[in-house]
Amino acid sequence: MSIIAVIGAGYVGIPTAANLAHLGHHVVCVDVDAERVRRLSEGDVPILEAGLPALVRSGLDVGRLRFVVGAADAARDAEFVFLCVPTPQSANGAADLSFVESAVRELAPVLGDAAIVVNKSTMPVGSTDFVAKVLAGSGAPAGVRVASNPEFLRQGHAAEDTQHPSRIVIGSDDREVADRVAALYGASGAPVIVTDPASAELIKYASNAFLATKISFVNSMANLCEAVNADVSDVLLGMGHDPRIGFENLFPGPGYGGSCFPKDTAALLHTADGGGYDFALLRSVIHTNDLQRERTFHKVRAAAGGELRGVPIGVLGLTFKADTDDLRDSPALDITKRLVEAGAVVRAYDPAAGDVRAFGVEGVERVDDAYGAAHGAAAVALLTEWGELRDLDFARVHASMVAPHAFVDARNLLDPTVMRTHGFQYQGVGR
Ligand code: UGA
Repeated sequence: MSIIAVIGAGYVGIPTAANLAHLGHHVVCVDVDAERVRRLSEGDVPILEAGLPALVRSGLDVGRLRFVVGAADAARDAEFVFLCVPTPQSANGAADLSFVESAVRELAPVLGDAAIVVNKSTMPVGSTDFVAKVLAGSGAPAGVRVASNPEFLRQGHAAEDTQHPSRIVIGSDDREVADRVAALYGASGAPVIVTDPASAELIKYASNAFLATKISFVNSMANLCEAVNADVSDVLLGMGHDPRIGFENLFPGPGYGGSCFPKDTAALLHTADGGGYDFALLRSVIHTNDLQRERTFHKVRAAAGGELRGVPIGVLGLTFKADTDDLRDSPALDITKRLVEAGAVVRAYDPAAGDVRAFGVEGVERVDDAYGAAHGAAAVALLTEWGELRDLDFARVHASMVAPHAFVDARNLLDPTVMRTHGFQYQGVGR
């Protein structure tokens, strides 16, 4: 069993640390936020992730998982150091590696000569070399090695995905280093792909860009269905049965969002531009996604009668998808912001989202349930597919609204026939 330091206690760092402890390793997970570290040390997980609190608590209970402030202390005895710090989007679209760089500078001088630094965060092509250079320039011993080992977990499923990975990708020019990283995961049953660092880094971006492409394609098909009076749900059902297409990631909506797809597609485009390749398809995927958010806003505006100034609108869902409390780059929040800016009086319900003002969105009244959001509204926009919204008393929702009783279901969560029977002016996406 190995001694591992995980740098960053965020959406990737916490599940990574908890899973490695679960696999039998001794793990210390580091963050700069002392309050976060205090909470985690008591088993209080500060993000909404089903199953993660139990995984963290079991690591704490058996004494194989600790949370501390200060990367240098944690990295001193570590055989492996996992970098799980944010790599946000910078102004030109590229991934910003400044958090990576400062973490590496801090821990370089204390690393043991045989330590392996593992790039777990999503980092662009060249990052394995970049980290190696920063280490060398910051006093790390000459024997320290760097490997890429990208994470593929989905938010909301972090505990499940880290424990049952679809694949383990390791990028290293040194086979022994790759084998040692692979061995950390034991007999997970997942296929292990060992390749060079640049290919490993690209696998992560290619995967996210492909999934984003699927979503932009599906959203385009949904819009086409609206134009020709077809039903996208049936079209997708008919497509998905082809095993080469499949049913996964085939749901139309208000456009993809979150902390990964928008940032990673932009970064991959930046990489392509840097390499002199015009990635026209990816450019179009991103543009299509921007248009989908805009289109959803226009749909709500038109449903409410065309003019939003002073018009009460109910919003259901603010997070970027269901089962997470994450508001980063949320299409739902983006559309809500546009509604407010157009003068609508917005009442919003979300079962998990925190304060939207922290994301620059002012003027939204938060209410405790969906009925409160619908109260007095001319139109309701369902923007995030929270399962509980399926089970609302729609007669009550309808009764509390005013004409035209418009309901825009931007996630196709509800049954159109049932909604129309209740008297709503119901619109889904592409049906
Ligand atoms: C995504 C990938 O799915 C993970 O494999 C990857 O590890 C992660 O990014 C990352 O790079 O860290 P995540 O951002 O948690 O995971 O969310 P997804 O479930 O993929 O959804 C992304 C966005 O696409 C959401 O806004 C979601 O609502 C939207 N989406 C997803 C659709 O509109 N339709 C779909 O069919 C699927």
